[in-house]
Parts: sequence; C-alpha cells; structure tokens
Amino acid sequence: MTPSSAAKITVRVPAKVNVQLAVGAARPDGFHDLANVFLAVSLFDEVTVAPAAALTVTCEGTDADRVPLDPTNLAARAATLLAERHGRTPDVHIHIAKHIPVAGGMAGGSADGAGALLACDALWGLGSTREELLDLCAELGSDVPFSLVGGAALGVGRGERLTTLETGGPFHWVFAVADGGLSTPAVYGEFDRLTEGTDVPEPTASPALLDALRTGDPHALAAALTNDLQPAALSLRPALADTLAAGTTAGALAALVSGSGPTTAFLTSSADSAHQVAEALLASGTCRATHVATGPAPGATLL
Ligand code: C5P
Repeated sequence: MTPSSAAKITVRVPAKVNVQLAVGAARPDGFHDLANVFLAVSLFDEVTVAPAAALTVTCEGTDADRVPLDPTNLAARAATLLAERHGRTPDVHIHIAKHIPVAGGMAGGSADGAGALLACDALWGLGSTREELLDLCAELGSDVPFSLVGGAALGVGRGERLTTLETGGPFHWVFAVADGGLSTPAVYGEFDRLTEGTDVPEPTASPALLDALRTGDPHALAAALTNDLQPAALSLRPALADTLAAGTTAGALAALVSGSGPTTAFLTSSADSAHQVAEALLASGTCRATHVATGPAPGATLL
C-alpha cells in the first residue's frame, strides 16, 4: 500500500559497504571508536511521506515482514525527532520501498532514517540546514549521517563524525544476501569477547586504502579492504566463510563481510565480472540472493 495523498514526498537513499572498518576497544559508554570508511552503493530504498492523522509506517519489498512498523523503526524515530525539535506532531504516513537487505550490515535501517528525515523536512517546509539534519542523524544512529551524505567518507568517533573522501571509480560490487539478519550489538559483543585480554589498537584509516579509493584502482582497493568485525560475524555465522570462498573462486578480486554482516561484499574488476560473480554465487547455493551495484552512489536525494 502506498500513501494516497497528492502531497507526498519521496526520497531515495543508498546502502553502504564499509571498505575499511577499524574497530577500537569498547568505550565506557559501550560504543567503539572507529575508523570507518564508508562507500555508498547503488542499491536504494525509497521513503515516501504523506500527511496522515497519526504516525504510521508501511513497508513493501523482499523481507518487508522483518521491518518493524512500530515506533522503533528508524524512519518513525526520525519523523518523531524532527517534529519534536519543531514543536509539531509527526502526523505522517511513512512508506518504505525496501531493496536494501534487512539487518544485513548495509545500513538499510539507517538509510530509512535519513530518508524520512529529509522527506519530512521537505513535507513540513522546515528548511533545516545540512548541519541541523546531520546533528539529528547522529542522534538517530552511528551510520545515519553517512546515509544522508553518500559518496565516500571517513567516519570517526562512533562513525558519525564524517569527512568526505575523494573517489575515482565507479567500483563494481556484488552483494550476497544471507538468510536472516545479524544484530549489530551482538556482533560488537562478539568482537569484545574475541578481543578480550588483547591490546586493541587505536583505529586509524589506511593511507593505502584512501589512495586506492581516490585513484579508482579496483586491484589496489581489493588489496586494502579490511573489516575488523569480520571475525566476529564469522564466529556467529560460520557458513559465511563458504559464501566468501565461492565469490573469490568465481573471480572476485576480494571478498569481505559488509559491516556487521551477514551480507557479504565482493569487489570485481568490471561490470561484466560482477554479473559473472553474482551468477556463480547464486549457483553455489551459499547465499539467498545477490545484487550487483556500483559505488560511489549519491546520498539521500529528493525525487
Ligand atoms: O549507533 P547505532 O544505534 O547504529 O548502534 C547500534 C549498536 O551497535 C550500539 O548499540 C552498539 O552496541 C554498537 N556500536 C558500537 N560502536 C559503534 C557503533 C555501534 O559498539 N561505533
């Protein structure tokens, strides 16, 4: 079901892959300091908002049944937060057309939060500045500011303090969707368990990786991809190792878990290679679905 009112606003918002996810030790507040290099990719959700008697959320798409439609949905929280800041009620119907894997490590929930924020700002004619929207995004979640900005960026702190990065490219990716999701706090908890008693270094961005992003060389980027959450995700989902192996056997330049997983990401040398790898991954029976996408992709965009 889509909103029926003529006065509706749609925002398109991208998924992300972390090309470097360097994770520090747990902080006193339970979060982890990161050096998080985000790359937005051309796999998009669309968030549509329309006036309604009360705040409601609907969702269509694969796995829509796994998207919460209650006030915990990040899009609902975004509308509520923005309305509160402006002393109004969040009387809006939010409809999410879902293409980004749910609880997949590709920031799908964060994307919907950023999308709803931008859409409600436009619907209610609030004219918030970019900085105001970014502050609200950071309150909603560590990955939400990047969903608004898109492109490529280094996130430090919890990942919410962004510096935009120059990129070449496009880079050609395949994403393999696993059965079910993984809880981000559970993966960070497993990271803590696996690193207990060890000296976890301060997270820093890799110069070789930033250089590869800038020059657009997929071979150099493949050599520099790292994800400190990967051992934790594999510990919780050992079968993901088979998916990673199937992708590299099929010709991917590199394979890694996307963020906290369980989606796996495969960097390839060309669009043709991406389609071949996607086909081989599906045939391997080690994943449920595949998506071919390029990055960088634009951030949240009013349609
Ligand atoms: O910020 P967000 O709500 O997306 O974070 C979800 C969970 O992921 C946090 O509650 C925390 O357990 C974990 N997290 C973390 N360090 C970060 C980002 C997220 O430990 N930098």
